[in-house]
Amino acid sequence: MAAAEGCVAGAADTMSKTIVLMGAPGAGKGTQARLLQERMHLPQISTGDIFRALKHADTPLAKEVRDIMQRGQLVPDEVTIQLVKERTAKDDCKDGYILDGFPRTPAQAASLDNLAAEQGKQIVPIQIEVPYDLLEKRMTGRRNCPVCNEIYNIYFKPPRHDNVCDLHPEAQLVHRADDNSETVRKRLATYEEQTRPLLDYYDSKGLLRVVDGDRDTESIYRDVEATVKDE
Ligand code: AP5
Ligand code: MG
Repeated sequence: MAAAEGCVAGAADTMSKTIVLMGAPGAGKGTQARLLQERMHLPQISTGDIFRALKHADTPLAKEVRDIMQRGQLVPDEVTIQLVKERTAKDDCKDGYILDGFPRTPAQAASLDNLAAEQGKQIVPIQIEVPYDLLEKRMTGRRNCPVCNEIYNIYFKPPRHDNVCDLHPEAQLVHRADDNSETVRKRLATYEEQTRPLLDYYDSKGLLRVVDGDRDTESIYRDVEATVKDE
């Protein structure tokens, strides 16, 4: 992969961090990113959430993105990279930020190396590892609050009252359009083909950290937070 080198782990304790949460669809990236945001006060940047927010926009790009997501494929690199550059240039990212769902291709990883070098940030890639046979149920059972985006699961984390957010009882939870069995299978195949190779990329640089994602959310969080603080 041709890329300028990003900053190496441990280069400087004071360097602010680009926390990269990696993992298959349904691994728990969003769940952990929300906890990190709340407790470490760093912004969560989810490319998937940003693309989903386009769902009511009536532009050719928004329609293309919707169709791509429904097919379980990836939005073109140039669109995604530009979006991340613009978002991470904002003031709230200067002390660090959490990437949830980016990078997903070699070109995106290369662009992130350049971006981290320009921004003086240390890349901390953390893989949340979950056995494949759990992922489909996590996704088909997921429900989100349309107001605060809180993530529920009808099997593993049900809301207190049927299909409404605990914090926004006026809001009916929504089922993501790409969380049906057919699209889920395509998303998993896309992940294997295009994104899993990035684990070797970060591992070969000695940066990759792996946490066991087949546990309760708080246990996983403790490992994720400890990893961020250690690096
Ligand atoms: P994106 O929104 O990023 O989806 P994803 O990668 O498929 O990941 P998910 O959001 O499905 O899962 P997650 O890991 O966040 O899990 P969660 O915490 O919700 O991307 C969607 C689409 O956008 C892509 O397919 C692509 O088209 C496009 N896109 C996005 N980024 C792109 C990029 N960089 N380049 C190109 N295209 C891009 O948890 C899942 C469920 O499990 C929840 O119900 C949760 O409650 C439950 N759960 C979580 N943790 C646990 C636990 N420990 N135990 C039990 N249940 C748990
Ligand atoms: Mg997510």
